Amino acid sequence: MNGQINQKHAIYPGSFDPPTNGHLDVIDRAAKIFPIVTVAVVVNPQKRGPLFSLEEREQMLRACTTPYPNVRVAHFRGLLAGFVEASHADVIVKGLRVVSDFESEMAFAHMNRSLAGVDTMFLMADQAYSFVSSSLIKEVFLQGGDITKYVPEVVLSFMIAKRQASGRK
Ligand code: PNS
Repeated sequence: MNGQINQKHAIYPGSFDPPTNGHLDVIDRAAKIFPIVTVAVVVNPQKRGPLFSLEEREQMLRACTTPYPNVRVAHFRGLLAGFVEASHADVIVKGLRVVSDFESEMAFAHMNRSLAGVDTMFLMADQAYSFVSSSLIKEVFLQGGDITKYVPEVVLSFMIAKRQASGRK
């Protein structure tokens, strides 16, 4: 017995703009618990103007998750609850970094359970990533800061390419 919960398909949703080492930590741990994990990229993040297109976000996630045979990458439009139902998934997985994350996540979890009868399971983000968010990574990087500790290598190269494409060094 390897600690996996039998027959459970977990969905790990997010904007992933871009994926960070914090996201990868949650994926790594979820993949050890659940037989199938779908990393689900929301098509239109609430936060306006994603830096990366949907295709780029999926590409980065696929590259980062190749070591995990039970992890797949997909995307969804509209409500997460609808995607969970359409995928016949059993559970939503979310990462919690700090206590303040819990306030909004609790409302989301109740809403998704009310809409789709699906439970949300929370994994505590590793302490090393408690301050790492995609928005902070973008801000630090675009202002010339070093983000190598916080993102997978493939994401760093996508970010460098994005900065070069925008005409900045
Ligand atoms: O990485 P993020 O931006 O924190 O992820 C947020 C996400 C995508 C999980 C959340 O915004 C979401 O579920 N969006 C889909 C629309 C939806 O279902 N909204 C109601 C949430 S109860």
